[in-house]
Parts: sequence; C-alpha cells; structure tokens
Amino acid sequence: MIVVTGATGNVGRELAGLLAAAGEQMTAVSRNAADLPHNVRHVQADLADPATLRPAFDGAEALFLLVAGDDPHAVLATAAHAGVRRVVLLSSQGAGTRPDSYRHPAAFEQAVKDSGLEWTLLRPGGFASNAYAWAESVRARRTAAAPFGDVGLPVIDPADIAEVASAVLREPGHASRTYELTGPELLTPRERAAAIGQALGEPVRFVEQSRDEARAQMLHLMPEPVADATLAILGAPTPAEQRISPDVERVLGRAPRTFATWAARNLAAFR
Ligand SMILES: NC(=O)c1ccc[n+]([C@@H]2O[C@H](COP(=O)([O-])OP(=O)(O)OC[C@H]3O[C@@H](n4cnc5c(N)ncnc54)[C@H](OP(=O)(O)O)[C@@H]3O)[C@@H](O)[C@H]2O)c1
Repeated sequence: MIVVTGATGNVGRELAGLLAAAGEQMTAVSRNAADLPHNVRHVQADLADPATLRPAFDGAEALFLLVAGDDPHAVLATAAHAGVRRVVLLSSQGAGTRPDSYRHPAAFEQAVKDSGLEWTLLRPGGFASNAYAWAESVRARRTAAAPFGDVGLPVIDPADIAEVASAVLREPGHASRTYELTGPELLTPRERAAAIGQALGEPVRFVEQSRDEARAQMLHLMPEPVADATLAILGAPTPAEQRISPDVERVLGRAPRTFATWAARNLAAFR
C-alpha cells in the first residue's frame, strides 16, 4: 500500500488518481476532509503532528512525502515503525540551488537520506499551477500581474510531477536518485499570461509589478525568507534554475508538457 500525503493538492490529487487507475492500494492523507473518488481511502492527519499519521501508515510499504511540519525525523520514524520501506520526497529545486534559503526542503532531504529507508528525491522548479494566482484577475479583468515579466523559467506541470512520482513509486530502479523536474521550455510571466489568453481566445493584459508590490503580496502566503528566496529566483535565476532538465523525459520516456497544455486543461479557472 502507498501513502500519498498532500493528496488534495495540485500534485497529490493527480498522483492519487494515477495510482487508483493503476489499481494500486493507496491511502490519501490531508488535514482537511477530501472530496476524492469513493474507492480511495482517505485519512485526515497532520504532518506537523506525526502521531496523527499512524492510522494512515498502518500496512503501508511506500510513502509519497510532502515538505510540511517541522519534524521530518519523527514522520519518517513513524513510517518506518509501521513497516514503510520506501519514501519519495516532493522537495524543491531550491534545496539544490539555494540550500541556505530553502532550509526546510533541504532539511527534509537530509532526514530522508538519514532515515534508513530506500529514497528518491523529486526537485521540481516553479509549478505551472502558480498561475492560479491570476485566476480571479483574469476572470474579472483579463489581466495578470507579476514581477520580472521578461525573465524566463522552465515551469513544470504538476501532472508531470505526479506522473514521475507514480513511476518512481511503482517501478524499480529509482532508489538513491535525485530528479530535477522542469518543463520543456523557458517561458516568461508575460508569455505565460499570453498563453492563457490564447487558450481563452481573448487577450490577457500583463501588468508588471515592482519587486516590492510582489513581495507584499507574497508575505501573506509565505514566511519572509521564502518570499525573498523565491523573488531571487524569479528575478535573477542562476543557470541551474533556468536549465531544462532531461529528467522528466528520462523517467517517463516523453517530453514534459508545455505551459500552453496546462492552460488549456485548466481553462475553467480563468473563464
Ligand atoms: N508551487 C511551486 O512552485 C512549488 C515548487 C517547488 C516545490 N513545491 C512543493 O510542492 C508541494 C506541493 O505543491 P501543491 O501545489 O501540490 O500543493 P497544494 O496544492 O497547496 O496542496 C497541498 C496539499 O498538502 C496538504 N497539506 C498541507 N499541509 C499539510 C500538513 N501539515 N499535513 C498534511 N497535509 C498537508 C493539503 O491539504 P490540507 O490543507 O487539507 O492539509 C493539500 O492536500 C508544496 O507544498 C511545495 O513544498 C512547490
């Protein structure tokens, strides 16, 4: 049995669907009640309170782990005690490129490596689904605001992360590997807004935000050091952060999906 934490999120929901479709026994975990297919077992538990995870881990062999809570060692010890033998961590590209800023995912990576469990690390860059932040303004005014409008990054479709996770959880040969997961092309925020407009069949106007405007918004969603590290990537990415990784194709045998494909599949959010 495979435990999927974060099973109601952009990645986890897709992963739960893929595992269920493949006939895998699975337990989906989130803190809140979930609207998942009836055949999916769901347990409400909090990664910040590892004892609550025990019912979810009962009978599990593998764990898809999210970076959440502050004590990955306790989560992993609880999993190992229940019989889990393999863990796939959804980390972050920043754990590799800026470990001093991305301390949380970097600490989870180290805990996973120290756990004695078989492990695989997934390090995605920015998600295509971050464009949901534009959903309201696109619906209301056909506008999308972001800083650093002309800086390109290879954003990844969360469905590709889920497909890689499913392959890694179900197939042999991925132990002790770290996969950098990106999309197939460098795309600027301005180009992403245009792609949403193209999918809608109506132009979406791009509004360039100042760094300070963007930072003020981000501080509602994340702690200060994470906001500053994210802004550093958005404004001045390193060559490693702009590199188009071959790892999605290595694992799946096909190129990653484009942002245009993501926009077309998720058009309902922007109509
Ligand atoms: N967005 C990006 O650009 C980006 C880039 C690199 C890495 N990542 C990583 O990818 C992760 C997943 O992204 P996503 O877009 O799929 O996330 P998401 O859509 O925000 O969903 C998060 C999921 O995790 C659950 N969750 C959150 N905190 C939890 C906790 N303490 N205990 C148990 N479950 C918890 C949520 O459900 P409940 O709220 O009901 O618990 C939900 O199911 C992020 O958390 C981040 O670490 C994101």
